[in-house]
Amino acid sequence: MYKAPRGTVDILPAEQAYYWYVETQAAEMCRRYGYGRIETPVFEEAGLFVRTIGQGTDIVEKETYTFKDRSDQEMTLRPEGTAPVCRAYIEHGMQALPQPVKLYYFASIFRYERPQKGRYRQHHQFGVEAIGESDPALDSEVIEMAWNFYAILGLNDLALYINSIGCRECRPSYIKKLKKYYSSHIDELCPQCKIRYERNPLRLLDCKEPSCQDLVDAAPKSEAGLCPECKQHFKEVLGNLKIMKVPCKKNHRLVRGLDYYTRTVFEIQPMAGGGAQSALGGGGRYDNLIEELGGKPTPAIGFAVGIDRIVLTLKEQGVELPSSEDQGIYVAYAGEKAKAEAIRLTAEMRTAGIPVHIGFGNKSLKSQMRQANNLGVSFAFIFGDDEVAKGTVVYKDMSGGDQWEVEISEVISLLTQG
Ligand code: HAM
Repeated sequence: MYKAPRGTVDILPAEQAYYWYVETQAAEMCRRYGYGRIETPVFEEAGLFVRTIGQGTDIVEKETYTFKDRSDQEMTLRPEGTAPVCRAYIEHGMQALPQPVKLYYFASIFRYERPQKGRYRQHHQFGVEAIGESDPALDSEVIEMAWNFYAILGLNDLALYINSIGCRECRPSYIKKLKKYYSSHIDELCPQCKIRYERNPLRLLDCKEPSCQDLVDAAPKSEAGLCPECKQHFKEVLGNLKIMKVPCKKNHRLVRGLDYYTRTVFEIQPMAGGGAQSALGGGGRYDNLIEELGGKPTPAIGFAVGIDRIVLTLKEQGVELPSSEDQGIYVAYAGEKAKAEAIRLTAEMRTAGIPVHIGFGNKSLKSQMRQANNLGVSFAFIFGDDEVAKGTVVYKDMSGGDQWEVEISEVISLLTQG
């Protein structure tokens, strides 16, 4: 028997109500903030991700699904949404549009991770990218939007963490300082951090190993190493967030797992914590990414949220979804002529926009009514050969059990005019 590949899930109709809720709320919110939807391919040239996410990152080193296509080109299943959107921004000359260009997406994301609750090999993100503006007011707007999204969904007890990791001018000297600090503690580091020390020192701050925690706590903070421009930028972002009453906490450990970030980075997590797979969303500025991909220097910022983790949290927090969709009408029949008329009227009702279920397989009326009950419909139309000969049908209220005989020719107007 085949099963869904390890780390992937089937999202069945009962779950879809949650995904539909999250996605419709996201799209409606994007409309209010002026974002247009974009869709990029599920796979891209492998180099796009190596160049942007970074060679020394977990994603590129261990997690990409990379394969050669039939023309021997290296392709990678999208392990994140930002680089493809930037590639599309350059490719379609979007720098000629009024800036910032604001784009949002829903995307399947592929990372070969160790599967566990809330961590999958194929997950789903809702993301936004605002490209072409360096004003800290855009940072705060994007962060406020992310924070607002969880409130719109009805989620509680979340924390917003923020940090600034500087720019390409000031970060090298901060990293030097960080390495100098760690150089006298190499023997105390966990095996993973020994590698990070060589390859990606900023990620030392992100370590979750208990033995490394005291070292991380005492490490030099990136905020202290910011150049005057980055310092001012961070100050304004924090000031705006205060004005907008967005409660954020500075967290000097927050560095994020992708190399393209500059200046502002942020993450949203449940207050109770919960380890590496607990982030419900995150993002930040990436002012050099477009240039690194061959475009003109173009500042940008964005975030993405894990829809699957949001669905888990909605369930954990017992958030009730708006009342489920109307299940519509059930059409039952007994007899050959009755079935033909039932089929005809079902098609007519659907054309008129009414959701309809019809019984299949010439089952008894009793079993058709049982199915109507199980489906949770409000009303049923019951066709019998005798009624059809008279041009009538029985209309039954499934909650109260009352029933009436109505003219078949009046059914559509009865349903559409209430
Ligand atoms: P990220 O933090 O790697 O950022 O992913 C965004 C969110 O996707 C995470 O906060 C988490 O909720 C969810 N997520 C990540 N990995 C998994 C997984 N294996 N299973 C389930 N959910 C997961 C990015 O991808 C950036 N592109 C965000 C961004 C947009 N930065 C700027 N613009």
